[in-house]
Amino acid sequence: MPGRKKCSSATVAKAHPVRTDPLLLETPQYPFVREFAAEYLRRTREGMWDDSRDALAPLALESRERILDVGCGTGELSRVLAAESPGTVIGCDVDSTLLETARTRNGVSAVAGNALELPFPDDTFDLVVCQALLINLPDPAAAVSEFARVSNDLVAAIEPDNAAVEIASSVDREERLEQRARQAYLDGVGTDVTLGSDANEAFESAGLEVCETRSYDHVRTISPPYEEHALTVARRKATGAGLADDRETLLAGELTEAEYGDLRSSWREMGRRVIDQMQTEAYRRSERVPFYVTVGRADDR
Ligand SMILES: C[S@@+](CC[C@H](N)C(=O)[O-])C[C@H]1O[C@@H](n2cnc3c(N)ncnc32)[C@H](O)[C@@H]1O
Repeated sequence: MPGRKKCSSATVAKAHPVRTDPLLLETPQYPFVREFAAEYLRRTREGMWDDSRDALAPLALESRERILDVGCGTGELSRVLAAESPGTVIGCDVDSTLLETARTRNGVSAVAGNALELPFPDDTFDLVVCQALLINLPDPAAAVSEFARVSNDLVAAIEPDNAAVEIASSVDREERLEQRARQAYLDGVGTDVTLGSDANEAFESAGLEVCETRSYDHVRTISPPYEEHALTVARRKATGAGLADDRETLLAGELTEAEYGDLRSSWREMGRRVIDQMQTEAYRRSERVPFYVTVGRADDR
């Protein structure tokens, strides 16, 4: 393929310097990594790819021999890949706690490694894929470049557009408040968490030809009988604890302290209404997160 970037990781790092960003945690081993809890990943991926795997068709999973899932976290995607492919699936992540969960909960062969300097020789895999990784990186194209180095065929990214999330709730103000909080979060977060359908730009910057983009909607619902987790989330809304977790990010954008205070107090009121409705089993909520599967070819020789 013309313009194919086949380079060492050192070249990639030099070509795409990692931006300093105070919102991302700096760890001694891997600079500027956003952290995730295993339980958060389990919950947010629950049911994902169970309803339809049509959007994964361009990955040609039935004919893959060696697949790498970069930023695998707890291995929720790796498990789906292993179910669909006769090949070997390896997960890779910077977070050793998540990797341990990937091994024990999802039976994933998992290795520690940075997406920008993958610990594999050139052309090791015939598919390198990530899910919700690029949205967390200051320079997504640098990662795609590195994926292309270790793939001898396909490179794919499954990324959400977090600006296009849709909420429907029986508590009328929930949708409006979540929209307000989401906008403030997007303003302050420091990486492009709306990347979704624009992931092709990162592929093109990395010199990869995009073969296909497909969409997949991950829909999560809450209805009676409520699971313990739904009750916990409702309590965290009513106390404002959930919003407070993101305080630093919310205030890093355009939201002022006073606006944050107003938002938090409306949020708590909304949480109390959610709990009231749960007591009579009237509460219903659904959330639709659009994901985009972008597939490129690393090499057409
Ligand atoms: C939103 S989670 C997605 C996890 C998993 N792919 C999924 O869909 O459930 C992002 C993951 O990327 C990992 N990560 C972030 N920066 C990374 C980097 N530079 N190299 C490798 N993994 C990274 C995080 O540790 C986390 O597990």
